[in-house]
Amino acid sequence: MQDALKYLREHMRSTPRVAVVLGSGLGAFGDELDERQEIHYAQIPGWPQSTALGHAGKVVFGRVGKTNIVVMSGRAHLYEGHSMDKVVYGVRALGRLGVKAFIFTNAAGGINLAYKQGGLVLVSDHINLQGNNPLVGANDDSLGPRFPDMTDAYDAEFRRRAQAVGQRLGVELPEGVYTGLLGPSYETPAEIRYLRAIGADLVGMSTVPEVIAARHMSIRCMAISCVTNMAAGVLNQKLDHSEVLEVGRSTRGLMVSLLRALAPEIEAAVA
Ligand code: HPA
Repeated sequence: MQDALKYLREHMRSTPRVAVVLGSGLGAFGDELDERQEIHYAQIPGWPQSTALGHAGKVVFGRVGKTNIVVMSGRAHLYEGHSMDKVVYGVRALGRLGVKAFIFTNAAGGINLAYKQGGLVLVSDHINLQGNNPLVGANDDSLGPRFPDMTDAYDAEFRRRAQAVGQRLGVELPEGVYTGLLGPSYETPAEIRYLRAIGADLVGMSTVPEVIAARHMSIRCMAISCVTNMAAGVLNQKLDHSEVLEVGRSTRGLMVSLLRALAPEIEAAVA
């Protein structure tokens, strides 16, 4: 990690307090920053490479209006075979570089029947069903405590600000509980009925470890899911990754508008 931090400190032209992590098919936001500076993961010593389709693999520094932000376009998933350390590497690196707020985005299956394909959902809480936790092993006391609190993992003030932005833009933003599963197979219809019964509204394969690692470092978090598909068994059709990417892409205009308006709000909250 020290080599990566050294490299980034030497090369980055700004020190943003707000970071956005982009999910499958949602990469467009990074391409729209002003005064953009792109650093590919391959250029950064030790930074894990993402192999998932629809993930670009770069850190983008830049501005939205007056707000400095950094975007991670492409993330490492557990299902790729990466260790937990790799999965949360970017979060820890950006945290070490001074990021105070994370906005995670992801593609998710809609379990809640009120959701619509292509809609956005503000994550209010999560359920970790990945069978693992990034904090397993010796605790790094320089990062945070052995047993971090997860009560306010998805920051209430960030969500209030997001709701206000959503209203201003006319973007519907229901809230829901995100469940993180290991993947990479999609769920069975029986698993989806089980998840609905335990209180899940969304299902995906990311975000949970990253939020745990960020909260460990006392960094404030929020997450926005794009409902790329209704979860298995909800509709009478099979799940298909190309459809997940397709819907992610067709929703990106909405996601980009929301993130553009949200970034200064989140910056103001951590100022
Ligand atoms: N399940 C798990 N992960 C996902 C889904 C899903 O239905 N859609 C997008 N990511």
